[in-house]
Amino acid sequence: MKILILNGPSLNLLGSRNPDIYGNDTLEDIQKSLQNIAKELNIDLIFEQSNHEGALIDILQKNSNCNGLIFNPGAFTHTSIAIADALESIEIPTIEVHLSNIYAREEFRSHSYIAPVAIGQISGFGSAGYLAALTLIHQFLQKK
Ligand code: DQA
Repeated sequence: MKILILNGPSLNLLGSRNPDIYGNDTLEDIQKSLQNIAKELNIDLIFEQSNHEGALIDILQKNSNCNGLIFNPGAFTHTSIAIADALESIEIPTIEVHLSNIYAREEFRSHSYIAPVAIGQISGFGSAGYLAALTLIHQFLQKK
């Protein structure tokens, strides 16, 4: 089972970016914790991050043979029809993850273009959301 973990803009700065909102874990910390779970569940993980909308779409298309996707699109969540269309085209079961609770923040964060093309969404549990998403996508794919 091969799962792509994809992070969008400014998530490379986790750890130092607004720790009150996004926590203290770096993307590398999250990656290490995910690898530990992946090892136990016999999952191959691919990690990618980009600050660019088109590059994220290229990464999605390049990895369209993955069994599942865990995706934090960052601010593109709220703006990108192009990323939503790309997800719809490649049809990979996707869990949308947000560290913060996007519904408890500014109004513009309450809308996600990604949610309708994802299996589900985890929002507000910090880095633990990624770990939960990996367990959940594993369960989802096993049942398929
Ligand atoms: C985020 C929430 C988005 O609104 C924001 O633009 C981000 C991070 C989160 O993980 O909470 O970049 O996706």
